[in-house]
Amino acid sequence: MTKTNIAVLGAQWGDEGKGKIVDMLTPHFAAVARYQGGHNAGHTVYVDGKKFVLHLIPSGILHAGVTCVIGNGVVIDPQALFKEVDELRQLGIDVDGRLMVSEKAHIILPYHRELDVLSEARRGERKIGTTSRGIGPAYEDKIGRRGIRVCDLLGDRNALAEEVRENVSARNRIIRESTLDWKPLFDQVVADGERMRPWVGDVSLFLHRLIKEGKPVMFEGAQATLLDIDHGTYPFVTSSNASVGGVCTGLGLPPRAIGGVLGVAKAYTTRVGEGPLPTELSGELADRLRESGQEYGASTGRPRRCGWFDAVVVRYSARINGLDAVALTKLDVLDGLPEVLICTGYRTSSGTITEFPADLRLLAGAEAIYERMPGWTSPTKGATRFEDLPGEAQRYVRKLEELTGVACAIISTGSDRRETIVKGGSLVESWLEGVPG
Ligand code: IMP
Repeated sequence: MTKTNIAVLGAQWGDEGKGKIVDMLTPHFAAVARYQGGHNAGHTVYVDGKKFVLHLIPSGILHAGVTCVIGNGVVIDPQALFKEVDELRQLGIDVDGRLMVSEKAHIILPYHRELDVLSEARRGERKIGTTSRGIGPAYEDKIGRRGIRVCDLLGDRNALAEEVRENVSARNRIIRESTLDWKPLFDQVVADGERMRPWVGDVSLFLHRLIKEGKPVMFEGAQATLLDIDHGTYPFVTSSNASVGGVCTGLGLPPRAIGGVLGVAKAYTTRVGEGPLPTELSGELADRLRESGQEYGASTGRPRRCGWFDAVVVRYSARINGLDAVALTKLDVLDGLPEVLICTGYRTSSGTITEFPADLRLLAGAEAIYERMPGWTSPTKGATRFEDLPGEAQRYVRKLEELTGVACAIISTGSDRRETIVKGGSLVESWLEGVPG
């Protein structure tokens, strides 16, 4: 078992294949902890050809003996959590004793979903394209200091009744002609709290103790850096800190608890929802990437927008997160393309830029500047050694490393756990003695 606690997070716009990477690394850790987001995430993992989609519970739950933690930075829809627990139970996986939920995590209430949909409708053409899971409104209530936390469900009932009553009347003022009754909602959240009670605890204390005993923890990000509320393509972002800063605030850990940061990046780029995607493709090529990469949302089933690898984006992610290494996923999806392109900058109305801008208006109408490389005809699919990749694919990976400034320590060549290259002598290899590859 490694001694290093590492964060594994998305380096692009999400759906980079973090589920598989986390799943593969999990046996080397005592615990896996989610630090932000909610059931807007969807982590797909294939084990022996069987497909698992997890939304809230870290995919580490598929490994016996690993504790899975949902931190205070996560917003929890109790119904979504129970559904996931029940589905896992049907697969023979019991979460009791292995799942810990932060007492400080905020609750998504049913009307947060309504508010999400309403807010999108009111934005009209400027809509974000959210997952409609109530994530944004739940975080709004948290920051507005009127949120309801897991510990509130388990504490003083009169205080909780007061909170629910006030929240419902505030919501009734927002949604005109709405007369939602607070009492059934109160009864519901009390029942939800009781069902969650056995899992609830002090996540910060638990993780501190684990780390002190020399037991390593993996911090699992959801969504990704370009969807981060502060560093992403605002306002087309999610409402939490998906980048590495979220680890400290979302789990109650100091920065020195993070021993390494692994960014997960796809060998091309995808995005769901609205907002800029400078390397976006259309037509046949986009369809081809979407079909062979199965680029449909794990949570919502929406088709993902597809484009070439954007080195500006991943270099930016490397800076924001201090990436020690990249896990490059879905290289095999590019198999058979005559040519592969990598974006190195943007030609905008105010000149060429090579750093990701804060003001998205700069990207409107911007033209991506590409480095073009020959594709490869023999497959990378299933390769487990870097040397076995076709020469052109090796050169493509090396070029990505040069342009982003980060080594690709892991390369995924298929959806199965076994279809993975761990580069010899890489930092990740030294973190994880004994990973196959
Ligand atoms: P929200 O998180 O539902 O508020 O959605 C905000 C934005 O983040 C939208 O563009 C969503 O499509 C995007 N988003 C949220 N969760 C994910 C995810 O797990 N993968 C990719 N995009 C996501």
